[in-house]
Amino acid sequence: MKNIVVLVSGSGSNLQAFIDACGNNIPNARIAAVISNKSDAYGLQRALNAGINVHCLSAVGYESREQYDEALATLIDIHQPDVIILAGFMRILSESFVLRYQGKMLNIHPSLLPKYTGLHTHQRAIDAGDKEHGTSVHFVTPELDGGPVILQAKVPIFDNDSAEEVASRVQAQEHVIYPMVVNWLVEERLIMQDGKAVLDGNTLGQSGLETE
Ligand code: GAR
Repeated sequence: MKNIVVLVSGSGSNLQAFIDACGNNIPNARIAAVISNKSDAYGLQRALNAGINVHCLSAVGYESREQYDEALATLIDIHQPDVIILAGFMRILSESFVLRYQGKMLNIHPSLLPKYTGLHTHQRAIDAGDKEHGTSVHFVTPELDGGPVILQAKVPIFDNDSAEEVASRVQAQEHVIYPMVVNWLVEERLIMQDGKAVLDGNTLGQSGLETE
């Protein structure tokens, strides 16, 4: 059984998808701990409801990003994780932290990367007149939202959509694709090699796995 540690800052709807998938669509892993930088993150409550270890590590009082990340890594390592999942963890990570877990840390970002790195992605897609938007699961590398993409899901943007409507369409897709990708990593079908994502021996392209 592999150990997963999930980092959250907010609602934790993606965390809920993992809680539901462990033992089912992710048969060979358990969530060993959920860590939040925000004490009021609803994701902590979801974890407690599921009987999972929780930690809250506020950044208040840490003098530098590196010092916070060092404390975060100490907490993570207690749980001997095989996979680290960023699920709406809204902090920029230091290079040393990212390199420590490179190849076993995944993020989900609400855009069709490389478009719209950073924040407010749904509104930016609407403002640009895009007819299509989506979400990307990628390995985490020191470049913000810049690691190799593994899988994307696309959703339409309709006339007069609000950012909230687009976000909820995107999130419904996230809850499907993120557990799927994590299971590939747990099962060692997915690796990061020479800065690229490799699934079942095939190097994936800029948009990750192409599906029909
Ligand atoms: C998700 O939609 C995820 O794509 C986004 O935060 C949301 C968290 O929702 N992540 C980022 O914006 C990271 N740059 P959740 O707490 O309900 O899972």
